Amino acid sequence: MTNHKKLKILIANGVNLDILGSRQPEIYGFQQLKDLENGLSERRLELQKFFGCELEFEFFQSNHEGAFLDELSKPWDGAVINPAAWTHTSLALADRLAGIDLKFVEVHISNISRREEIRQKSLTAKHAIGVVYGFGIPSYITGLFGLLESLID
Ligand code: DQA
Repeated sequence: MTNHKKLKILIANGVNLDILGSRQPEIYGFQQLKDLENGLSERRLELQKFFGCELEFEFFQSNHEGAFLDELSKPWDGAVINPAAWTHTSLALADRLAGIDLKFVEVHISNISRREEIRQKSLTAKHAIGVVYGFGIPSYITGLFGLLESLID
């Protein structure tokens, strides 16, 4: 069982994930961001039952780094974060994640280890409790499962 009556979970998508579905579908697939979010919402009751807690999901996407950083600092119990290109480039995001007390799982749709060299390095992963990548959209549910597992006593 959990210490919390209700867990507030942030699902945060970074830059360019607003155009999921039309953006390089050979890499990211044809599902749109709203399909991804709806898919997670549909699993909420099942996850609540499995983990024996109440879950609230907040979905957030931004192409603006400052807005993204600000969102992470709100009082979440945990987060699933796809920092997108900022994964590989943003020292500011890495510094934020190092400086706040946020338990998060980093997720990626594509298998970043098999892609260009710059994508193989994550500046943010070392601050995560775990990383899931390469499963397409199911990376998110897998990451969420791992996050909830770690939040439950
Ligand atoms: C991504 C991988 C990143 O390299 C890329 O910049 C993205 C998406 C993924 O989910 O596979 O925008 O994070």
